[in-house]
Amino acid sequence: MKNILITGGAGFIGSHVVRLFLETFKEDKIINLDALTYAGNLENLTDIENHPNYTFIHQDIIDLVGVRGVIKENNITHIVHLAAESHVDRSIKDPLAFVQTNVIGTVNLLQAAKECWGDDLNDKLFYHVSTDEVYGSLGETGFFYEDTAYDPRSPYSASKASSDHFVRAYFHTYGLPVIISNCSNNYGPNHFPEKLIPLMINNIIHQKSLPVYGAGLNVRDWLFVKDHAQAISTIFSRGKIGDTYNIGGHNEWTNIDLVKLLCKLVDEKLQNPVGQSEKLITYVQDRAGHDLRYAIDASKLKDELGWVPSLQFEEGLAKTIDWFFSNKNWLENVTSGEYQKYYDKMYA
Ligand code: NAD
Ligand code: TYD
Repeated sequence: MKNILITGGAGFIGSHVVRLFLETFKEDKIINLDALTYAGNLENLTDIENHPNYTFIHQDIIDLVGVRGVIKENNITHIVHLAAESHVDRSIKDPLAFVQTNVIGTVNLLQAAKECWGDDLNDKLFYHVSTDEVYGSLGETGFFYEDTAYDPRSPYSASKASSDHFVRAYFHTYGLPVIISNCSNNYGPNHFPEKLIPLMINNIIHQKSLPVYGAGLNVRDWLFVKDHAQAISTIFSRGKIGDTYNIGGHNEWTNIDLVKLLCKLVDEKLQNPVGQSEKLITYVQDRAGHDLRYAIDASKLKDELGWVPSLQFEEGLAKTIDWFFSNKNWLENVTSGEYQKYYDKMYA
């Protein structure tokens, strides 16, 4: 039996990973460690909160003593590490918070695992969930491969790159059994509405202006969050220790085309006149250091472990929009208070 610690399980991707792991690894205990920052929300997990194999622990990974205690007391054998500060715009405003959580928090977890596991590394795993943004920015062609040189350009991606380097350092130096995956942009249910897709859905619902950075020609490769969770589960079960796996949707969109598609889909749902929401598109000042294009080559994961995305983009977007319409309370709860202050400052 495994005791699996999932960090950041109250966040967007983490909550889908917690749910999938409970369904998939029925014999195992799932311990969700989360500091419940603005991005962590236990409402994401109400359906499984009383599951007999599930425990939630309120803990900050910046606190080494606390993290060590959690690993020891729960006899943790496997760690799936998602806890992070995850928004590029916030990293531009407050880079030190990203160093604290993403770099120091990750090293704390590595160190605590190393100390608690000692020489008994049989059936142990430290699985680090990372991003394609560590590879930098692509021109109009080409893809990120597992051996693409790191070239992070935002404080967020620099902090994630640093955490990846520490994970590999613990593998090479101490023999800690690690795996890293680097995934492209996720979207789907529970996505916090500071990121492009849920922000636009929320603003279209409320007929607020739709802020597109620069000329809207930056390209992202979008993957449905449940497909990412499934990839993590596959790699967790059958990935090779010490290896890196790229995860992506082969689904590139310029921001402006994507925002126009969202306008069309939400207008249809609201039975608005054709073209109504596109009029809300407003080009605003570009993000500093805005990466032009991300695109993942995920063929290693397909060839070695058989993972491919399950959904076409329009299907995934339709499911996502349906979820936001069916969970208006969730949206209202997360967009009141602190979010409103963030939004007003960010988009002033
Ligand atoms: P998120 O911001 O929605 O959630 C992050 C979670 O971590 C929250 O529950 C938060 O409370 C928790 N957390 C933050 N700081 C913490 C701390 N100091 N101690 C304990 N918990 C803390 O993020 P997400 O989008 O779900 O991303 C999860 C992971 O996946 C991150 O590591 C991110 O870098 C990576 N990732 C995200 C994407 C994406 O498109 N969102 C793509 C690839 C990789
Ligand atoms: P985001 O969802 O923040 O993800 P990331 O920066 O990690 O890729 O942004 C996705 C793209 O959308 C990115 O090119 C920035 C752009 N964007 C906007 O044009 N307007 C917005 O209000 C936001 C939040 C993002």
